[in-house]
Amino acid sequence: MKSTASAPGKIILFGEHFVVHGTRAILAAIDKRVTVTSSFTDNNTIRVNSELGTLEIPISSSYEVKSEFKPFVYLANKMISSNQSVNGLEITIDSDIPIGVGLGSSSACCVAATASISGLFKELSSEEILNLSIEAEKTIFPDTSGADCTVCTYGGMIEYTKDETVPVYHASTKKIDNTFDLNLLIANSMIPHSTKNSVEKVNKFKENDEERFSELCDLETKLINEVIVVMKNNDTTALGLKMSENQKYLEEIQVSNNTLRDMISSLNEISLGSKITGAGDGGCIIALVNDENMDKVSALLGKDKEYFSAKIDTKGVVRV
Ligand code: MEV
Repeated sequence: MKSTASAPGKIILFGEHFVVHGTRAILAAIDKRVTVTSSFTDNNTIRVNSELGTLEIPISSSYEVKSEFKPFVYLANKMISSNQSVNGLEITIDSDIPIGVGLGSSSACCVAATASISGLFKELSSEEILNLSIEAEKTIFPDTSGADCTVCTYGGMIEYTKDETVPVYHASTKKIDNTFDLNLLIANSMIPHSTKNSVEKVNKFKENDEERFSELCDLETKLINEVIVVMKNNDTTALGLKMSENQKYLEEIQVSNNTLRDMISSLNEISLGSKITGAGDGGCIIALVNDENMDKVSALLGKDKEYFSAKIDTKGVVRV
């Protein structure tokens, strides 16, 4: 028996990092997906096949595994332990989301793996998939705000506020229906980053200057309130300016670098606004670019950068 599920990657339009500290963020799922297929085996092992390599360990072992395999092993052990008749599991990951560049590859893997593995046993609701995928993500990134897994589960565009006192989705997340036709360019700095390290860096910034950090959280909240209005009015020019304003806050908490700044300024002449998306310190930027200027991107960014135009995914996690 096989169970396959896929989940989309994501971009953060507004509010990354501040969301970890309780402010709201706006995220969108994108049309790049990860597909996970799970099946029972008779090998008494958990086997994980991914483009990062293959792992095979005995069931219920307390083996120390490489960080990228931890969520899969956690999910497999958890589900096997409540279904004693299972003799082994094989999990295969197939992804078109670039890894470690802020596009939600690891969250999409956690969400798709949760839906795929659980599908061998019983159908879970989206909310159950989300809660379990956040538990799995916490094996590699304990401080996660849960925002990435949430948008990978539900798809579309969402407002998200972390609230650990309530069931994750219903009380803290709102779908944004009016997803007007955004022309978003995603450009990859080709510098891999660690979300965990960037979040720790921001924690240090906060410890060193609680007062300024709190002001920045207030500014981010105000900005996002304005963004909601701007989006309702389909005002792309104002939206671009808000993105650039958000970038200033990200610069101040020191998650930017020269490469990202150069990319942003090289796109200035054609973009309505641009910013880091995700943890920063590398990874990707997003820019709002008019259609007629898309053919200028390559010359402006240079040959060593990858870029593509993002479409918003409306589907979220699906069993296939
Ligand atoms: C990473 O995609 C987004 C961060 O805000 C971390 C998080 O929300 O868990 C940097």
